[in-house]
Amino acid sequence: MTDSPSPASPLQLEDRGAVRIIRVHRPDKLNALDSQTLDALHAAFREAAADDAVRVLVLTGSGPKAFVAGADISEMNALTPVQGRDFSLRGQRMMRFVETMPKPVIAMVNGFALGGGLELAMCCHLRIAADSAKVGQPEINLGLIPGFGGTQRLLRLAGRAATLELCLTGAPIDAARAQHLGIVNRVVPAADLEAETMKLAEQLAHAAPLALRGVLDCVNVGGECAIEEGLGYESAQFGLVFSTQDMREGTAAFLERRKPAFHGR
Ligand code: COA
Repeated sequence: MTDSPSPASPLQLEDRGAVRIIRVHRPDKLNALDSQTLDALHAAFREAAADDAVRVLVLTGSGPKAFVAGADISEMNALTPVQGRDFSLRGQRMMRFVETMPKPVIAMVNGFALGGGLELAMCCHLRIAADSAKVGQPEINLGLIPGFGGTQRLLRLAGRAATLELCLTGAPIDAARAQHLGIVNRVVPAADLEAETMKLAEQLAHAAPLALRGVLDCVNVGGECAIEEGLGYESAQFGLVFSTQDMREGTAAFLERRKPAFHGR
């Protein structure tokens, strides 16, 4: 553990080589996101973004039952409209920061990812789910709507039909259906979830960091603009990677039939 959290800390951080694991740690509340947890996540991702030793992040929830069971309903119950808007913005800003991180973030979905939990998983770049996981946007059952980007990111990931089904009915779906809809990348047996996620994280940790960043930037920009603009952005990023030592190393290693060693320069 890099961090020995105080008993009240809503997060646990662990470094395994260049992979930083961030665990939302409110197991008695199924890791529900209250304001303190949203802020702690924002701070943890900021710190990881600035730390060159961290190349990949894995985000998950403590305990076997939940990734994150949503925004904290007891906190929301008492909010005024202005506070409700602020709570939404607080979550959205943190999640947008994660989405635009310069290094890959993998959501390891170990159980319920409901409401704010699915929204948190969706702002990550890749999602691996346990076969026992359940995902959904159940806010409608509380007289609410998704407020941390759920209507927007689900629409972009899975399209209009799936978004309207999940958000209008509030019914959770299992991991297999979530994969079928394109909401999660892979589903693995629950017992293999950590090993499979770490395998993927290690693979990405050995990739060229600046090229990873280029891909993330191009996809983030391209998802929101016209194709000509996106193609132009991609060409500029493509040119930019020719300025890196890692690109020289990667191409030379291929020609010399050896494994490349990338250093993020
Ligand atoms: N906010 C605050 N507390 C939550 C929570 C949330 N989103 N989700 C679960 N909890 C709390 C429960 O209140 C309970 O606390 P308590 O023991 O102090 O009463 C604890 O976590 C365990 O949850 P519980 O409901 O007893 O577990 P379960 O196995 O019976 O049900 C769920 C699991 C996920 C189906 C159920 O907790 C649930 O529906 N949660 C809310 C999901 C939701 O609507 N999320 C969107 C919020 S916008």
